[in-house]
Amino acid sequence: MSQDQASLTSKIAVVGAGEVGSTIAYSLILNPVAGDILLIDPDTSRRDAQAQDLSDATYHGNTSTRVLTAEPEEAAQCDVIVLTAGAAQKKGESRTDLIGKNVKILKSAIEGFKGSLSSDSKTILLVVANPVDVFGSGTFLDSARLRGILASRSGVAASSIDAYVLGEHGDSQMVAWSHVSIGGVPLDQAVGKNEIDKKSISEETKKKAAAIMEAKGATAYGIGGVAASLCKSILFDQRNVRPVSHWQEELGVCLSMPAVIGRKGIVRTLPMDLSDQEKRELETSAKSLKEVVQEAEK
Ligand code: LAC
Repeated sequence: MSQDQASLTSKIAVVGAGEVGSTIAYSLILNPVAGDILLIDPDTSRRDAQAQDLSDATYHGNTSTRVLTAEPEEAAQCDVIVLTAGAAQKKGESRTDLIGKNVKILKSAIEGFKGSLSSDSKTILLVVANPVDVFGSGTFLDSARLRGILASRSGVAASSIDAYVLGEHGDSQMVAWSHVSIGGVPLDQAVGKNEIDKKSISEETKKKAAAIMEAKGATAYGIGGVAASLCKSILFDQRNVRPVSHWQEELGVCLSMPAVIGRKGIVRTLPMDLSDQEKRELETSAKSLKEVVQEAEK
């Protein structure tokens, strides 16, 4: 499907009209991805005000995107449903601390539209609310942050740097340093083995969200751009490779690994030949996530 056709006819539902949901909607307006963005939230006065404000960003004439208010069941008519409904992280709270609250909120949000989904529905559900390890944006945002840090250290554009944060979008995430390359050149050759302090960059990447939250209370623009990028990959069937959270048979949990993203969502996972150390770190992340899931299921 050409980008023009997709952007004229597609619909994206954003469930949750808070700071993250409205930022995702704004990012979708700036990168014309959909014809209609349906904003859904039980707080209808906040939903309506966000839709009004977002619509004012579409009247300048450079986009045909419309921002509409909708009821939960209308999400079932959409090509993509972005689930942002959930409690925000508080200072000192980890993302996985949210699972108890957010599983309940997400279940209630899904109840709002699942009965309206047809049995042959092609709607893709993209989870952005934390902990984002179902089919979700996962460590795509962490990987973008890592590429930004490496870009500033190496003097090379982030778009020319391939780097993956894998595992949990959270404290147990790990960097597949053996696969980081700059312009296709392995990192240690591109910038010299001792020029990059991998340990400190891994920590800086992992802690970036907490530092932003400490200063401004929440993050929104990073996840807004990442979620809009995933919607574009889905709607335009772009077949980009992104580290997103999805089911890992061997590990028995959903966590982030590189996957091909297209109109069907996860088209396929890309197997990575990790070092023994990296495999151990990924297994530790999988174990940590499984413990969180078991806790939530009690
Ligand atoms: C962050 C939130 C989205 O990492 O978990 O910014």
